[in-house]
Amino acid sequence: MTVGIDAMEIHAGKLRLDLAETFAPAMDEDPGKYTKGLGLHASSFPDVHEDIVTMGANAAHRLMERKGLEPDDIGRIDVATESAFDNSKPVSTYIAGCLEAVYEGDFHHANKGERKFACISGTQSLDDAYNWIRAGRNRGRAALVIATDTALYARGDAGEATQGAGAVAMLISEDPDLVALSQEQGFGSADETDFLKPNQQFPSVDGKRSVQVYLARMREALEDYESVAGRVYSEEFRYVPFHTPFPGMVRKAALLGYRHMTRGTAIEDDLEPAIGRQPLPDEFDDESGYRDAVREYMDALKETEQYGEWYDNAIEPTLDIARHVGNWYTGSVHVARLSALRRAREDGIDATGERLLVGSYGSGAQAEIHTETVQEEWETELAALSIDDQLEARRDISFEEYEEIHDAHNHAKDDEFDALTTPSGEFVRDGQGPMNERT
Ligand code: HMG
Repeated sequence: MTVGIDAMEIHAGKLRLDLAETFAPAMDEDPGKYTKGLGLHASSFPDVHEDIVTMGANAAHRLMERKGLEPDDIGRIDVATESAFDNSKPVSTYIAGCLEAVYEGDFHHANKGERKFACISGTQSLDDAYNWIRAGRNRGRAALVIATDTALYARGDAGEATQGAGAVAMLISEDPDLVALSQEQGFGSADETDFLKPNQQFPSVDGKRSVQVYLARMREALEDYESVAGRVYSEEFRYVPFHTPFPGMVRKAALLGYRHMTRGTAIEDDLEPAIGRQPLPDEFDDESGYRDAVREYMDALKETEQYGEWYDNAIEPTLDIARHVGNWYTGSVHVARLSALRRAREDGIDATGERLLVGSYGSGAQAEIHTETVQEEWETELAALSIDDQLEARRDISFEEYEEIHDAHNHAKDDEFDALTTPSGEFVRDGQGPMNERT
């Protein structure tokens, strides 16, 4: 049985904060720190009419309309978020409520839930839907998975430059049109405290450590995947979408992934005259000597033509959208997949049958590796998306407006509903808490 993602839609926050022109001068930083160092040009921001419910409902509504679906076609609605505001009712019930206002049918028959494990919960929800269908419990119905977040950091936190807001809606079904998921998965999971929000809205983050934890868990997940699916090699995968808190993070993960996938291969033989062989732990007396040798090898590897070519083909296309929207937490790795396929379409690449190595990650911390196979109808799906229109339609905000918006979304402060945009035909916040209405 082939199960996977039949269709996807996104909803990008309606405001755009330019990091080089607006954020960097206000922070008194060189714009290159953001555009070159982190690899980010802009963040999507929610306007005051948006929250995780409206963004999720708008993405889901767009998906249902495009695929001609009615509530009766959906047997399960799972929301993945780390921005939830209700400790009892799942966000999926709020989103279903919005959708029921515009459809004749209802979702009374649908199993609704909410998944939490930082950014990886988007993929965990996908896995839940996959398992539900493979178990034959879906009665012919599809699952709606919605990853929705407002990724905000406290003002002045180093993470502030990596903020973002948006939602991804995915339809999971048998015989999918977009990508089929592998049965095999690999995990790297450990109790970590570098990024957490215990009863607080903004995360407490040890940014530098969080980068190391991401890399460590991702390596474990890759090894675990190989233990069940066999060795993975760099040339097997057309694209490698990773969780993208900022593209600079993926630059580091990609190097690690490439080193792992090419060890003991002809590529390593080919590279040896220029950069030597990959150091092995048993060649060293102490750990620090091994670590220095690995660092030296990685620095040299990064500069090789072989690595550069692989990176440009397999990784760079996954970052096109993230550069302009920032971190969407639970939606991030799913944006990376879309970004790669969007580039394939732009470049006239026939991606049918191509494989993707998908690396999901959530702080706390857990990484998951699975693979996907691109399906025949992928291009039709990509052609129907409104990503470019949405990104283009965002309104640029000044730093003063950014400060106002950040305050409006800070649960600790009173909301001020100054109309910074005038939405129409969409679900919007009504200013009375988490109840939403459609304009
Ligand atoms: P920072 O410490 O302010 O930045 O914030 P930095 O000084 O490390 O500079 C960043 C990069 O820019 C460096 O490059 C600099 O060299 C370079 P690198 O050494 O890393 O390759 N740079 C420049 N380049 C060109 N021109 C210049 C220039 N200046 C500097 N002028 C930090 C970085 C990651 C700490 C911060 O953004 C942060 O705290 N972010 C939030 C945490 C995060 O995103 N962590 C990522 C891993 S954890 C994760 O992905 C999970 C997450 O999504 C949450 C979840 O799962 O729920 C976050």
